[in-house]
Amino acid sequence: MLSDLPDDAAAELPPLVAEELPRERAVAALALLNEGHVRGCTRCELHAGRTQTVFGVGDSRAELVFVGEGPGADEDRTGEPFVGRAGQLLTKMIAAMTLTRERVYIANVVKCRPPGNRTPTEPEMTSCAPFLFRQLAILRPKVIVTLGAPAAHTLLATTTPIGRLRGQFYDFPPPPLASLGLPGCRLMPTFHPAYLLRAPQEKAKTWDDLKQVMGALDLRLPTAGAE
Ligand code: URA
Repeated sequence: MLSDLPDDAAAELPPLVAEELPRERAVAALALLNEGHVRGCTRCELHAGRTQTVFGVGDSRAELVFVGEGPGADEDRTGEPFVGRAGQLLTKMIAAMTLTRERVYIANVVKCRPPGNRTPTEPEMTSCAPFLFRQLAILRPKVIVTLGAPAAHTLLATTTPIGRLRGQFYDFPPPPLASLGLPGCRLMPTFHPAYLLRAPQEKAKTWDDLKQVMGALDLRLPTAGAE
């Protein structure tokens, strides 16, 4: 389990940011992490098959961060997370919440495309997670939404199936990750949009989860007939 392992994969990484940074410094800290550490990363075998790393996009002061699993073919080609079919559905989910991709932040657990779009392995996620932890320490969102099992399992340090995890808020970080010094927030696990494309009957549950997130962020649906 990720939580059993020391953060030694992060040995040569900068320490986690310990305070909220003004926007320009947060942008610079994210760029430094990306350009100085992620872009040339060879920590695991996934680097061998990538076209480029996929770091994350969005507002460095976003209250809401989405975390997926890892880049697919479209993301590997473009360098941006969630731009393929699953990404188009995620963009619609974000719009349904009255937000835009520019107002949230979108990242993945692993920054390189797993071959054939397979699920990243536990060691791959463990070696890449220190990058995500550092992104989250810079971003300091109010709410994290994890998309699918790998992201929920990584950030909640659990192996409970996603169908049982989803639908309720958890405190982040969970006790097994408490010693890392991550800023606290609420975390909502929900289904991955790629799964929703295969199982559209689960979309209503995901919308219920996202409405809970909207409530936590004081976001309201436009009332019918309002200008
Ligand atoms: N699936 C993910 O989990 N992340 C992406 O960026 C694209 C598809």
